[in-house]
Amino acid sequence: MESKSPSASRTTMTDMVLPSETNPLNNLFGGELLARMDRAASIAARRHSRRITVTASVNHVAFNRAVPVGSVVTVEAAVSRAFKTSMEVYIDVWMEDRFSGERTKANEAIYTFVAVDETGKPTEVPQLSPETDLEKERFAGALRRKQLSLVLAGKMKPDEATELKALFMGS
Ligand SMILES: CC(C)(COP(=O)(O)OP(=O)(O)OC[C@H]1O[C@@H](n2cnc3c(N)ncnc32)[C@H](O)[C@@H]1OP(=O)(O)O)[C@@H](O)C(=O)NCCC(=O)NCCS
Repeated sequence: MESKSPSASRTTMTDMVLPSETNPLNNLFGGELLARMDRAASIAARRHSRRITVTASVNHVAFNRAVPVGSVVTVEAAVSRAFKTSMEVYIDVWMEDRFSGERTKANEAIYTFVAVDETGKPTEVPQLSPETDLEKERFAGALRRKQLSLVLAGKMKPDEATELKALFMGS
């Protein structure tokens, strides 16, 4: 299978924040943002694999900035690394200033998707070839994030998480 670049999966979704999607402080409700990110990331994983994809885990979410009602929000997702049947997808969330149009980074998240066949069985995906410095940085960190996610899910013994251990041992 030929490898693909992150740009082949890059998915951009822009939408505004309506009052029905906010919390009592009139900021975007966290669950609504999770759903928007899941949708964009799912499309990115599908574009990379050209398979049915399912969300296997949400590895990381940082709600760094509140997103007020009326904001224009852009969710950008791209595959950051492909393993055998799973893909890590990095999601950046941007807010657009109402007056200047300037974009500010509001949040980011990392999801894992698995490509499956019609019966739900995991199936192989193309590898990913990162191109830019940022893509290479995200690619390099993806294996330890996968190991952490598997350890937390009870699917890998901490002893087997060699890449993750190396991070703490400084090697
Ligand atoms: C995701 C799913 C297909 C994984 O099935 P599984 O039996 O664990 O399959 P495997 O053990 O073969 O794992 C498949 C891949 O997923 C990865 N994976 C599984 N759980 C993971 C987790 N928690 N974090 C990161 N990766 C995970 C495995 O490492 C493996 O990756 P690789 O093939 O690239 O090395 C299965 O659990 C499933 O269908 N879950 C429901 C998905 C769903 O409905 N999502 C929407 C939620 S509402």
